[in-house]
Amino acid sequence: MKNFISVEDAGHINHLSRIALDYKQNPLSNQSGAGKRIGMLFLNPSLRTRMSTQIAAENLGLKTIIFNASQDGWQLEFNEGAIMNGQTVEHIKDAAPILGNYFDIIGIRIFPTLKDKEQDYKEQVLAAFIKYSGVPVISMESATLHPLQSLADVITISEAMEKIIAKRKLKVVLTWAPHVKALPQCVANSFAEWMSAWDKTDLTIACPEGFDLDKKYSPDAIITHNQNEALENADIVYVKNWSSYNDYGQILNDPSWMLTNKKLEITNNARVMHCLPVRRNVELSDEVLDSKRSLVTNQAANRVWAAQAVISEILKSIK
Ligand code: CP
Repeated sequence: MKNFISVEDAGHINHLSRIALDYKQNPLSNQSGAGKRIGMLFLNPSLRTRMSTQIAAENLGLKTIIFNASQDGWQLEFNEGAIMNGQTVEHIKDAAPILGNYFDIIGIRIFPTLKDKEQDYKEQVLAAFIKYSGVPVISMESATLHPLQSLADVITISEAMEKIIAKRKLKVVLTWAPHVKALPQCVANSFAEWMSAWDKTDLTIACPEGFDLDKKYSPDAIITHNQNEALENADIVYVKNWSSYNDYGQILNDPSWMLTNKKLEITNNARVMHCLPVRRNVELSDEVLDSKRSLVTNQAANRVWAAQAVISEILKSIK
C-alpha cells in the first residue's frame, strides 16, 4: 500500500479487515515500525482519529508526533503560482518536502470548506501532500472521504454479523439524519464507497429530497427519499448527517428523520451505527444510542485496529 486515501488503496477489503482483526487479538505482534516516525497533521478537531491512530502506530513500534496545524502552524498556501501577499505564510511546495524528511509516513486531516464544491472535491490539500512530501500519506478524514472510519465500520459489521454474513449478504441502510450545522459528506461518501465495494452487503441510501450524495461513490446503491421504505428488513442502519451535495453545504434540520426504536421495528432486528461525535436527540435518540442495538462504541474501538492494519501495510512499501 502506497497511500491510504480511498477504498481503491485498500486492496482486498476482507483481507485488510482480517489483518485488523488479527491485531485486535495480538496488538504487539508486529514491530516493523521500530525506528520509524509518523507525523499526524490536524487542520481540524478530532478525538477518535487522533487517539486511535497514535495508539495503532505505537503498537507497531513507530514514534508519533501530532501537530495541530491549524492552531500552531503557519497558514498554508495550496494554489500554484499564488502571489502570497495575503494571509498565507508558507506554500505547501516548501512545507511538504520538509515533513517528508522528518517523517516516514504522514497523516492528514482536512475538512472541506462546504462553500466551493469544485475545490473541495478536487482534494487539493491531500493531492499536494502526496505530490510534494515524497512519503506515504494516510487520510485521517479529507474533504470527501474518511477511509479509516470506513474500514473500522467494515470490521465492526464483520464482527457483529459474522453468522449472518456466512449465509447471505446483508441489507445495509445509510440513512440521513437531522443536524443543526453544515457537516461534510465525507463519512457518508466513504461508507457508501466501501459498502459498494465490499462483497458482503447490499446498500440502500435514504435521504430527504435534495440530499442525494454524489452518485460516483455508490453507483449500484438503491436511493430512496422514504426512510421507512429503506428501513424495511434492514440488518444494519448507519445513521449520519450530511449537508447537501447539490445545493452545496445547505442544511436541513427535519426532526422526522431522527431514528427511534419505533422506526426500527420494521427492520430485521437491525444494529445501529454512527461514526461519532453524535448530537443526541437531534441525529439519534438516546433510546437507540443507549440500547443493545447500538454499535457506536465498537466502531470507535475498532478504529485502532483499522489504523494498525493500514499503517502496517504501508510499512511494507517503505524500504
Ligand atoms: N469518527 C471520527 O473520525 O471521530 P473524530 O472526528 O473524533 O476523529
